[in-house]
Amino acid sequence: MPTILAIESSCDDTSCAVIKDGVVLSNIIAGQAVHSEWGGVVPELASRAHHQNIVPVVNSAIESAFLSKADIDAVGFTRGPGLLGSLLVGTSFAKAFALANDLPLIEVNHMIAHVLAHFIEDPKPKFPFLCLTVSGGHTQIVLVKDHLDMEVIGSTKDDAAGEAFDKSAKLLGLTYPGGPLIDKYAQNGEVKYEFPKSKVGDYDYSFSGLKTAIMNFINNNKQKDPAFVDRELDHICASIQHIIIETLMKKLIMAANDLDIKEIAIAGGVSANSGLRNAITFYGKKYNWNTYIPKFEYCTDNAAMIAITAHYKYLKKEFVDQSVSPLSRLKI
Ligand code: KG4
Ligand code: ZN
Repeated sequence: MPTILAIESSCDDTSCAVIKDGVVLSNIIAGQAVHSEWGGVVPELASRAHHQNIVPVVNSAIESAFLSKADIDAVGFTRGPGLLGSLLVGTSFAKAFALANDLPLIEVNHMIAHVLAHFIEDPKPKFPFLCLTVSGGHTQIVLVKDHLDMEVIGSTKDDAAGEAFDKSAKLLGLTYPGGPLIDKYAQNGEVKYEFPKSKVGDYDYSFSGLKTAIMNFINNNKQKDPAFVDRELDHICASIQHIIIETLMKKLIMAANDLDIKEIAIAGGVSANSGLRNAITFYGKKYNWNTYIPKFEYCTDNAAMIAITAHYKYLKKEFVDQSVSPLSRLKI
C-alpha cells in the first residue's frame, strides 16, 4: 500500500501532507497573513508566499511523519481549480520532487478533494451521498456515487458562499477572511434584519443580489446614524449568516428529497461555520439524515484532502506525466 506526499497550493495556504495506506501521518499548513490588510487574496503576493513556504512545509511534513524521502511512493498535487500563480508553485515543486526521486505524479482536483476529506477519518459517508461543498471560490451540491465518480447537480451562478461571507464582512469594515469573523460576531447577535432571498432555479445558487442588498442596507442606515454598524454589528452578522445558511439549506433539502438520499455531508471552508454546522445537524434530525461534518482542520484548505484523493487515484493507477500543467484545461 502506498505512501504518498501531497501538496496543496491553490489559494493562500501552502500545505503538505503524508499519507500511508490511507492514514494521514502529517498535515502541515502555512497560512498567509499578508492578505488581510488588502481585503482579499492578492494573487501575486500569494504565489510569492507559496514560493517562500513550500520547501520548509514539505520538509516539515516528511519529518512530522517520521519518514524520509526514500519512503515516498508517489507525489500528489492540486492541479486546479485555483489561482494560476499559486497552482504553478505547487505543481512545479511536485513535478521536480517526482522527477528527482523517480516517482509517479498524481493530479488532484481541489473540489473533489474537499468532498473526499470525509474519507480521512471515520465516520465515512455511504454511497451515494450528497455533499454541499462551500468554499471561497465554489458552491456546489455534489452527488457522490463513488470516491472518484461525482456529479455536480447544482452550483452558484455568480458569487460563492464564502465570497458572500467575505464581501459582506468587507462592507462591514472587517478584515479578510471575513467569514470566520461574521461567524464569531453572529454568535452574540439575533436575526433582526431581513435580506431578500435569491430566486434562481433548480439546485443552483446566486449570492450577488444579497451583496447588493447588504451594501444598500449598510449605506442607508449609516446615512441616518453613522454609529449604526458598530452598534448593531452582532445582529447584522447574525442576520447575514442566517440568510446565507437558509439559502444553502433550501436547495440541499430539495435535492435530498428529490433524489431520496439521506446521507448528507458538508465540505469546504464555509463548512467550518458554526451556524451551518448547527443547521445541518438540525435538518438532519428533522429529515432523518445521517449527517457528516468534517473536523475543522479538514474544512479549510489542507493537503490531507489532496493526499486521500491521491491515495484513491494511486489505487486506480491514475498517474500523469511531466507535461502536466495548470495552464491547460482542467478535465479531472
Ligand atoms: O475551502 P477554503 O479554505 O478555500 C477555498 O477553496 O476557497 O474556503 C475559504 C472560505 C473563505 O471564504 C472563508 O471566509 C470561509 O471559507 N470560511 C468561513 C468560516 N471559515 C472559513 N465562512 C464562514 N464561517 C466560518 N467559520
Ligand atoms: Zn478549498
